[in-house]
Amino acid sequence: MTEPKLKLGVNVDHVATLRQARGTDYPSVVDAALACEAAGAHGITIHLREDRRHIQDADVYAVREQIQTRLNLEMANHPAIVEIALEVRPDEVCLVPEKRAELTTEGGLDVAGNLNALLDPVRRMREAGIVVSMFIDPDPAQIQASATLGAPCIELHTGAFCDLPTDQRGPELERLVAGARQAHALGLQVNAGHGLNLDNLAGIFDVPFMHTLNIGHSIVSHAVMVGMEAAVTSMLDAMVPYTGERG
Ligand code: PXP
Repeated sequence: MTEPKLKLGVNVDHVATLRQARGTDYPSVVDAALACEAAGAHGITIHLREDRRHIQDADVYAVREQIQTRLNLEMANHPAIVEIALEVRPDEVCLVPEKRAELTTEGGLDVAGNLNALLDPVRRMREAGIVVSMFIDPDPAQIQASATLGAPCIELHTGAFCDLPTDQRGPELERLVAGARQAHALGLQVNAGHGLNLDNLAGIFDVPFMHTLNIGHSIVSHAVMVGMEAAVTSMLDAMVPYTGERG
């Protein structure tokens, strides 16, 4: 397999969703993470939600201990979760907004409107050696605010792009392209994710400077049919044509 220019972080939250649906001790989130790594994933992403609807605290510690690649912990800026992050020391945290009623993360974090609340937790996590990323919409003010905050990385929210009918995605694609350029010019690492699947993936290949894609639901869904290693391999194969430049 050709090594893609893009890195893949697999979000295994929905392996935990399946387990929590029955209160069993299977399927194992750790085994799923290890299967992703065996297939060539560059990192594992898990979201410890305040409501603990899928990933549990014990999963975070177990995944941290067992995986060999990078751990990216998605989390809201809640004091108790920040303390867990400081104890677990993931390689990266991605700060996301969180509403209890939402099905999944809706919309990006309002960094610009919450600079004061974010300053101290971001500083503490950075001082602990954690790469801090902001999950934001491709909005110039949010990108600038992330740089002002001292976050070295952003994750552009691709959900709006993915939700649009294929023939109406142009303007959102342009926002993502402009956002990636702005972030790159500010020295930020550009990641992207949300809603990506094998059908819509190539649609974002015009977005330059992307480093890592974080993909969860579509890979776990595909894994139900073909197994985790095959699902991760197909995504990695689909990422190979990305050049990092606007085509
Ligand atoms: N990135 C972030 C910040 C997310 O919150 C999620 C969903 O947990 C993802 C990526 C992955 O999204 P999806 O499950 O739609 O691939």
